Amino acid sequence: MDLVKEINRLKKEKNAVILAHYYQIGEIQDIADYVGDSLGLSQKAAETDADMIVFAGVHFMAETAKILSPDKTVVLPDLNAGCSLADSCPPDAFEKFTKAHPNHVVITYVNCSAEIKALSDIVCTSSNALKIVNSIPKDVPIIFAPDKNLGRYIINETGRDMLLWDGSCVVHEAFSMDKLIALHKKHPDYKIIAHPESETHILNTATYIGSTSGMINYVKAHQDQKFIVATEAGILHKMQQEMPNTEMVPAPAKEDNTCACSECHFMKMNTMQKLYDCMLNESPKIEVDPAIIKRALAPIERMLELSK
Ligand code: 13P
Ligand code: SF4
Repeated sequence: MDLVKEINRLKKEKNAVILAHYYQIGEIQDIADYVGDSLGLSQKAAETDADMIVFAGVHFMAETAKILSPDKTVVLPDLNAGCSLADSCPPDAFEKFTKAHPNHVVITYVNCSAEIKALSDIVCTSSNALKIVNSIPKDVPIIFAPDKNLGRYIINETGRDMLLWDGSCVVHEAFSMDKLIALHKKHPDYKIIAHPESETHILNTATYIGSTSGMINYVKAHQDQKFIVATEAGILHKMQQEMPNTEMVPAPAKEDNTCACSECHFMKMNTMQKLYDCMLNESPKIEVDPAIIKRALAPIERMLELSK
């Protein structure tokens, strides 16, 4: 079966839109109607007039799309495509934590479950985190969850003293400092760019720190330079497609990692076959409790409003 042809046929037949994250495999990025970072994807999910949103990403992203477009069918190619960061923040424990600090504004990174979003005052992504934190009056204390690495980066950039949840992304903690130094010694003219989910010692080596879209835009603006890219390696597909003459290599991962660079096995659970199957069967569908949708929508909408 020609999967590209069949997926395109189903797209028309079902008035579906395929939204894909930059960490998806190249073939999925190439067939998507829109490829973007978490903020761009949620903006597209909020404004689409398609009947079906096919979310080529991970569960929390598809869930965010469902919260923003509850009347639409939202499908995810593989329901097991989760996220270590989202998993590091269980709702019961987080609720206890927020209750123990009742005077705090709760800012949550979008990489969390709908239940956690429902316990939040405002959501952020890596591309607007600094802006969202800076929007909170200086005398108001902040809880930031679930990513401690992004949280530390925000604290360093804004000087705000936030209470951090102890969560992290396995993919962005897999980079090897020793291998990165060795690679940079071999290629001293390569600039290191990094995603803020990476650990502080990696971020300290970077010329630029930003979201996946931010990193792509930075390379676009500096195409004559060479890059070591410290985020999930799938991003190199789009970078190389858009900047074919720019030299770039993924940042190396630790010895015990499953591959030489860092890949998100959750993101890579989605395949072209599963993409086709989920469109054909309209399953697996993302379902979110209407009461949770009601509470989780306001903090996401607050973020979208501040990101215009
Ligand atoms: P962004 O694409 O928003 O930078 O997020 C990266 C990420 O880890 C998504 O899971
Ligand atoms: Fe979650 Fe990290 Fe994978 Fe993003 S890269 S989906 S934060 S595990």
